Amino acid sequence: MARPGWGILAPGGIAHAFARDIIAEGFTVAAVGSRRLESARAFAAEHGIPAAHGSYEQLVADPSVDIVYVASPHSHHAEHALLAIEAGKHVLVEKAFTLTQAQAQRVADAAAARGVVVMEAMWSRFLPHMTRIRELVRGGALGEVRTVIADHTQSLPLDPQHRLQNPELGGGALLDLGIYPVSFAVDVLGLPIGVQAHAALTPTGVDRQTAMILEHEGGRQAVLHCALDTAGPTRASVIGTEGFIDVDGAFYGATTATLRAPDGSVRERIAPEVRQRGMQFQAAELEARVAGAAPTTLPIEESVAIMGVLDEVRRQVGVRYPADDEA
Ligand SMILES: NC(=O)c1ccc[n+]([C@@H]2O[C@H](COP(=O)([O-])OP(=O)(O)OC[C@H]3O[C@@H](n4cnc5c(N)ncnc54)[C@H](OP(=O)(O)O)[C@@H]3O)[C@@H](O)[C@H]2O)c1
Repeated sequence: MARPGWGILAPGGIAHAFARDIIAEGFTVAAVGSRRLESARAFAAEHGIPAAHGSYEQLVADPSVDIVYVASPHSHHAEHALLAIEAGKHVLVEKAFTLTQAQAQRVADAAAARGVVVMEAMWSRFLPHMTRIRELVRGGALGEVRTVIADHTQSLPLDPQHRLQNPELGGGALLDLGIYPVSFAVDVLGLPIGVQAHAALTPTGVDRQTAMILEHEGGRQAVLHCALDTAGPTRASVIGTEGFIDVDGAFYGATTATLRAPDGSVRERIAPEVRQRGMQFQAAELEARVAGAAPTTLPIEESVAIMGVLDEVRRQVGVRYPADDEA
């Protein structure tokens, strides 16, 4: 049977990386859609994609497209995911899934009603080192897991017009970078029962850096940090009563990790081979779900719940987006 056709919606920075990764792995990219036909044509020419559309509406209406990859700023994820779902297409939506939990729930409900698959493009969850870490944690290699520590810091554009600085476009460190440590902590420890956060804001009113403590059942904790103007180690640790795992930076990308005994001695080196950037694993998961497989990780309900955690962090630190005023 022919593989499903992918349509790329919004050919910006990450869309290039995604297209490169999945095309190199033999996925079928059928079309690209931009708000400007010239951008779509340039992207199609660069990646050898057969169809280029000058609007997102034309992209989702293209019969050669079965799955739409939404790569617009997070402020537009809900609108663009709903556009694709209404056209009967499956959807992979870049992280952060939406701006708010209310938007995330609307998208999940719409997909369920239309009978299509929707998934957050939290690509890290599907990387091989993360799969092995889940196996070790669930299999008891660390004893009782008590703590997750993770940070995601980068030096990103400081132009006040850039989407990362602009509240209208869902700017700030939390939704772009902090989503990774939060999603990692939820993967390892489950959903939190309490959240505490502090942040320093930019002059434009988004978070420049945010520190979070998530409280989990049984007194377990996640200590998480993100910042958008200071590149740092971007590592993660999972600490249990009988061992710990160090994940090398950048922990959220294709990387290596080490399982150690409490005395620090090495029990297992995790160093899977990954071709390209590694965005193909999430695409394979989505194709498997479309073919009827159950999620291996990150079911849509979990993405919706994670957006609730981010809502609460933003409430505590005073970052508001226009979408917070939606009914
Ligand atoms: N998975 C990852 O590793 C990763 C890495 C970076 C970013 N991301 C996520 O991917 C999404 C896009 O990030 P990016 O860095 O690729 O952004 P970007 O380079 O700014 O591209 C975003 C694209 O969205 C389209 N767009 C639609 N409405 C827009 C608006 N009102 N303002 C600006 N652009 C608009 C534009 O394409 P057209 O005008 O051509 O339609 C633009 O090229 C974000 O949600 C981000 O969190 C993920």
